[in-house]
Amino acid sequence: MKHKIAPSILSADFGHLAKDIQMVNESMADWLHVDVMDGNFVPNISFGPDIVKVMHSHSAKPLDVHLMIEKPERYIEIFREAGATNISVHYEACTHLHRVLKQIRETGAGAGVALNPHTSVSLIEDVIEELDLVIIMSVNPGFGGQKFIHRTLEKVRQLKNMIITHNTDTLIEVDGGVGLQNAEVLLQAGADVLVAGNSVFKSDNPLMTIYHLKNLGIHTLYA
Ligand code: DX5
Ligand code: ZN
Repeated sequence: MKHKIAPSILSADFGHLAKDIQMVNESMADWLHVDVMDGNFVPNISFGPDIVKVMHSHSAKPLDVHLMIEKPERYIEIFREAGATNISVHYEACTHLHRVLKQIRETGAGAGVALNPHTSVSLIEDVIEELDLVIIMSVNPGFGGQKFIHRTLEKVRQLKNMIITHNTDTLIEVDGGVGLQNAEVLLQAGADVLVAGNSVFKSDNPLMTIYHLKNLGIHTLYA
């Protein structure tokens, strides 16, 4: 299966959200990644469900909603109704992760868990069958434009082995500091989905950057 690209709307121009979503619609991106932050689980505050609903009304791509919030079980149905196709919660924010993952699947959304850089992949082995998606955070969550943490590569490899051992269809998504400089090596390690915020929206030509991320290898012809 070809890998997926999920531009992160957190790095878009908030004064022209509809225009930036239209760019993603016209691009080779697969999903639109939406970072929801509560100012509690992470220091930053981003968008609530009403804004996500507006994004959904403009987006031709499925919304990949990443909840960086405490007690996410309070908001699963609300974000599903706002238009989320995938809903990911943080391992560190869930006392009853198994229950929350079931709750997500019951809404019909894909269920995901995100792991902070300090959280070991081994901790999710007992719920791997409940997971459509695992987001390996390659930065500490809260902000776009941070530096990629190299140790992530080893975590992607470990998770890939776990998925093969348990024979599940779980996708591996990498989030934070991803761009053309490290995309290839992440895919080789086993990543299926690349989230890209600043590397897309702050580039000179976001459409071309998405094209190159989707067609890795081709960009080297023009380098
Ligand atoms: C970080 C968010 C990321 C962020 C990635 O908390 O989860 O999705 O938007 O942005 P870049 O790609 O700029 O690191
Ligand atoms: Zn994210």
